[in-house]
Amino acid sequence: HTKGEMLYEGKAKQIFLTEDPNVVLVRYKDDATAFNAQKRGSFSRKGELNNAITTLIFKYLEGKGVETHLLEKLSDREQLVKKVEIIPLEMVVRNYAAGSMAQRLGVEEGTKSPVTIVDICYKKDELGDPLINDYHVLFLGVATREELDTMYALTLKINSYLQELFEKMNIILVDFKIELGRLSDGTIILADEISPDTCRLWDKDTMKKLDKDRFRRDLGEVTEAYEEIYNRLTAVLENQ
Ligand code: C5P
Repeated sequence: HTKGEMLYEGKAKQIFLTEDPNVVLVRYKDDATAFNAQKRGSFSRKGELNNAITTLIFKYLEGKGVETHLLEKLSDREQLVKKVEIIPLEMVVRNYAAGSMAQRLGVEEGTKSPVTIVDICYKKDELGDPLINDYHVLFLGVATREELDTMYALTLKINSYLQELFEKMNIILVDFKIELGRLSDGTIILADEISPDTCRLWDKDTMKKLDKDRFRRDLGEVTEAYEEIYNRLTAVLENQ
């Protein structure tokens, strides 16, 4: 596949056309943003680590029967993926309270939830990706009731496979965000990425944060934390 015109540039990735209308190329950047791009930074090797981590996790999920957009990892920073229409909703799963939910509800970060929580945020930069509910989704017309049911089921299935995986890595999967997309026939599949940029991952023994909160909260050792996740992931997946 040849890299064609750039279709889209996001905060952490660029998307390029290829000669195949059903395939696009994703390029992971080293740029980091937080708090709706009010905080900006760049970390050496972040792009290649997120590409490597997402590739390993998506292949693991494919092995469990979850369809993803991943076709193949092309190079350090590039992946070939199936072209999808991204549904402009962030599906956020929370196993423990942290971040915006801990703040909103006034509960201590790290409180385990008795139920798996799924939040939906509307992907709209100008609005700062507001938290919405099913009614708002139907009002906006971005997904149907049937699609929402599929999206919840897929999201919960992914959560249980990820919990199983991170458990073996001695990591607590606190929360994470996924994005889903539609293939041309309407099938909803996992798209975007799953990496320390999109998850909260705490070491089970030390509770050390091994994710993007190190950047958001200026805790240092950002690249080292992403490397740690990559190394543990490789070790666990090699032993499967
Ligand atoms: O910010 P908040 O606490 O709601 O984030 C919940 C989870 O979703 C975190 O793991 C965070 O990294 C992820 N997230 C994301 N992209 C966003 C918002 C949240 O990956 N735009």
